[in-house]
Amino acid sequence: TKYEKIESFVKGFKLSGSAYKRVMALLHQEMINGLKHHSQGGADIKMFPTFVRSLPDGSECGEFLALDLGGTNFRVLLVRLQGHDVEIQSKTYLIPQRIMLGTGIQLFDHIADCIGKFVVEHDLQNHQLPLGFTFSFPCQQEGLAKARLSKWTKGFRCEGVVGKDICQLLQEALQRRTNCHVEIVAVVNDAVGTLMSAAHGDRNCEIGLILGTGCNACYMEGLDNVGTWKHGEDQDHHPRQVIINTEWGAFGDNGCLDFMRTEYDHELDTFSINPAKQIMEKMISGMYMGEIVRLVLVRLSHENLLFTSADRDCNLFERGRFYTKYVSEIESDTDEFFRNTKQVLDELQVENYTTEDCKVVKYVCTLVSARAAFLAAAGLATLINRLNKQDMTIAVDGSLYRFHPRFHNLMCLKIKELVKPGLKFKLSLSHDGSGKGAALTAAVSLRLRNLKM
Ligand code: BG6
Ligand code: GLC
Repeated sequence: TKYEKIESFVKGFKLSGSAYKRVMALLHQEMINGLKHHSQGGADIKMFPTFVRSLPDGSECGEFLALDLGGTNFRVLLVRLQGHDVEIQSKTYLIPQRIMLGTGIQLFDHIADCIGKFVVEHDLQNHQLPLGFTFSFPCQQEGLAKARLSKWTKGFRCEGVVGKDICQLLQEALQRRTNCHVEIVAVVNDAVGTLMSAAHGDRNCEIGLILGTGCNACYMEGLDNVGTWKHGEDQDHHPRQVIINTEWGAFGDNGCLDFMRTEYDHELDTFSINPAKQIMEKMISGMYMGEIVRLVLVRLSHENLLFTSADRDCNLFERGRFYTKYVSEIESDTDEFFRNTKQVLDELQVENYTTEDCKVVKYVCTLVSARAAFLAAAGLATLINRLNKQDMTIAVDGSLYRFHPRFHNLMCLKIKELVKPGLKFKLSLSHDGSGKGAALTAAVSLRLRNLKM
């Protein structure tokens, strides 16, 4: 029948429990490798030590600037901390695509210009401002405020930045373009910022997860397990632990996930700006999910199983035109009227579709998003099992998690199935974004700096 035929084109998204257990075993092995060896070596999962060693304890205070770069929005924030009272003012600025794909100098000049404007608008010209920088890309850190970009991911590819210290690039741009008194005190990944922000109010929080444009996780690891940690003198005031930025989006880059990739995953990868990179991220995150759905729909149309009388010139057949927010909208349809689904199909200029077509479109969305949620769940379960704590809170942020109607529930179901019996966990949306986390990191660092003096 028609449905059996459709099934044959989508069955690759339905994976057994044992497939996800296999993913966990592989992921854990790669994490252990990444922790042992320096990232310049073979490890795909970098497991970068972040130099963030202490979680906030609520005594942080002061006035901080923060930047949040690498998600959907670029933001400049002013964060005022006084114990558990946090006051945030922020402004979102646009980063045009020509800058995302331009030179590093253009990127950092643009950022510095935005900071300059923000400082003037908030009348902060004469303030000495420590800055916490959320930079959501893989960096090899040499200190809290020294981070070399290891590669670009997601939609960014600016020339001349890989291998360079991004703090220095920003500090130089600030000197060139502004006369504000800003000192970069900390640079953190968005997963780390999210964890720091949530840990401020929850002692059980030791994992941070991003499900947005990209996908990544971080967690608190015991120093003795971190073979790549160079002993510094800054240990006195810290517990023997460090937050590890896993960069698990790169899981599968060595081919170990090929057993579960579909023809659509391969096609998506071929046409991406970073072929063969970020394989796990491409199966989960918001930058790619809509495109996977689109590729399935296109295939089904070509097989005459869907939209049999639609015009082949419509937007559905153009790469990148099916946004991940459509997946969330379509899956939010709960009755037979398919209001959202129809609206999306209209936006894509698909003509003459039937209610049957809507059903199939929604079905494809649920399969693709469930696989994404289950894969993310397998990743989290791996970390929860490793940390082996009775109660664990996971701080989560990102547009996919925020806006998809079922992602949270799907993940919880799967994690329960995959964690060791008796381990309890809670996924909790981080409300303030990782800018607050970057400011807190800067605050913790200044507090400890003062302690030493
Ligand atoms: C935001 C965080 O809320 O979520 C960012 O403040 C992070 O630091 C982002 O990068 C991730 O989600 P998205 O969907 O914007 O990529
Ligand atoms: C990409 C980046 C990573 C970031 C994630 C979520 O995976 O490499 O650093 O945390 O996206 O934004």
